[in-house]
Amino acid sequence: MALLSKKVPASQHGYYSGMGMRSIFRRQSGIYLSSMQHVIESQQFDKVWIQQLFEHADRLHGMRSESLHGRILASLFYEPSTRTRLSFESAMIRLGGSVLTTENARDFSSAIKGETLEDSIRIVGQYADLIVLRHFEVGAAVCAAKVSPVPIINGGDGAGQHPTQALLDIYTMWRERGSLDNNHIVVLGDLKHGRTARSLCYLLGKFANNRITFVSPEELRMNDDIKEYLNKHGVSFNESTDLSSLMKKADVVYQTRIQKERFENEPDYLRLKGSFTIDRTLVDTMKKGSILMHPLPRVDEIHSSVDDSEHAVYFKQAGYGVTVRMALLETLLL
Ligand code: NCD
Repeated sequence: MALLSKKVPASQHGYYSGMGMRSIFRRQSGIYLSSMQHVIESQQFDKVWIQQLFEHADRLHGMRSESLHGRILASLFYEPSTRTRLSFESAMIRLGGSVLTTENARDFSSAIKGETLEDSIRIVGQYADLIVLRHFEVGAAVCAAKVSPVPIINGGDGAGQHPTQALLDIYTMWRERGSLDNNHIVVLGDLKHGRTARSLCYLLGKFANNRITFVSPEELRMNDDIKEYLNKHGVSFNESTDLSSLMKKADVVYQTRIQKERFENEPDYLRLKGSFTIDRTLVDTMKKGSILMHPLPRVDEIHSSVDDSEHAVYFKQAGYGVTVRMALLETLLL
């Protein structure tokens, strides 16, 4: 399965290196994969880089090796996580590396004593070869990258981005559907606060002839920055609330959780939380070969009766996270 019809020689590629976002990234030509330093936002990847990463992931699928023996990954998590933290750690261990882990850094690191994120990064960067950071504030990964002596991977910054989730999401689409072009993708749920949906849109915009339909409660519509990006890059999108007719037509349905932790008051969350749920009757209307994805965790937005549907790929999707993250770790550390 090729993402591109034509291979571009490494000498013609651009790559991003350096620290942080936009002004900090420098586009240069030269060797591609090994030159990326920090992974901060989905816009930094391009198609060729993604193709190389996915081919690399395919080669590593199900493998164990010692390629990162002696290397150390630190996971510094200021917000809860199951999949992101454990799949990065599993990926590192499968490649022979070791992990240092702080799963509740907000309470159990020196943050509780008043240490700044930057100071924590300066220190942890001397204990590990790479840091996976999850933080509750948008922009935290950029701040970390500015001072870090080692690569920073953004494992989610508040309602900002989650670029490695987006990589595994499109890897799932590629594996399960065979192409990242010409898809009609319904992105569904809490689009205002959901960082995975945001990072996914940036990536979908890089491939040809994709069409996105956003479905959400009025209060949780996709923010303008993403819509502007899609307009600028000629990606066709619309907004709808007619989920039942979209389920029949879509190639990919990407469901997301209503992000309880980002609401200012509980009544608003409770009022919106049951919007646009998917049950077995609805999933059974999906066309052959179409897939239902979710970054997980789900609460009640996909009923458990859907789990054994041929369209449900969300558990497999979580598994692909290990493979993609193995490829990413080798890319950054070898
Ligand atoms: C997502 C996240 O943390 O943004 N989870 C994940 O990393 N797989 C989605 C969510 O929490 O709803």
